[in-house]
Amino acid sequence: MVSDNFISNVDALEGFRRIPDNTIDLIIADPPYCLGKDYGNDSDKMSPTDYLNWSEIWLEAAIPKLKDTGCLYIFLTWRYSPEIFTFLKSRLIMINEIIWDRRVPSMGGSTRRFSSVHDTIGFFAKTPEYYFDLDAVRIPYDPETKKARTRSIFVGEKWLELGYNPKDVWSVSRLHAQHRERENHPTQKPLEIVERMVRASCPTDGVVLDPFAGSGTTAEACIKNDRQFIVFEINPDYCEIIEQRIKLASSQPSLFPVS
Ligand SMILES: C[S@@+](CC[C@H](N)C(=O)[O-])C[C@H]1O[C@@H](n2cnc3c(N)ncnc32)[C@H](O)[C@@H]1O
Repeated sequence: MVSDNFISNVDALEGFRRIPDNTIDLIIADPPYCLGKDYGNDSDKMSPTDYLNWSEIWLEAAIPKLKDTGCLYIFLTWRYSPEIFTFLKSRLIMINEIIWDRRVPSMGGSTRRFSSVHDTIGFFAKTPEYYFDLDAVRIPYDPETKKARTRSIFVGEKWLELGYNPKDVWSVSRLHAQHRERENHPTQKPLEIVERMVRASCPTDGVVLDPFAGSGTTAEACIKNDRQFIVFEINPDYCEIIEQRIKLASSQPSLFPVS
């Protein structure tokens, strides 16, 4: 089970057992955040201690599946990223902490603290030889910036023609209820974000594993960018959403490039 697209309605821990070691190019993991969300199960309702223990157990099962060139992205909140990053740094090389600025509008919010408007994403690699294709995710310069660099020293420069390197703060709107991408899932991630991970960190025709697939954003990103996927999701209703989504995906273009 390391090729062709595969959706499995299983607990991720069971799913990992079915995958041979050293076969996956990229893991994109968006686990429950321990915030009490309703995914039609109790997976987001653990105590903080149980959550951290469970996180170590599934990560320990996931990491051997990566090829030596493989990488892992993990979505987390600031509440538990310190502990989980510390654990991951004992197993993998930390490449980046990416801040996803959800572009939350300035309304309401917390009154006894600063309102949290970001998710924390860890980007880890198995070895220093990890795959990373910067050119696949460069952001084109706008015409004004290009014009401002018409001096001869800039003309023909690869970076000017190809665009700039995305930074570690990714400002992409969350999917509000009326968003055109929105499926019936409470914590669906924007396709832009997942497409950037797939294009940067998995070669064409490589295999992406998403152990907590939700509405299937990773599957859609893979189809649109010619990568293969294996996804696990414990809720059968979400698996049906994924099936529907991937049927539509091949007829729609990729969203890339993003700003
Ligand atoms: C944060 S959501 C993922 C959202 C997804 N990235 C998307 O864009 O739609 C986490 C998902 O993990 C699923 N889940 C929770 N525990 C699981 C487990 N042990 N194995 C597989 N899936 C699980 C939940 O049902 C939920 O849909």
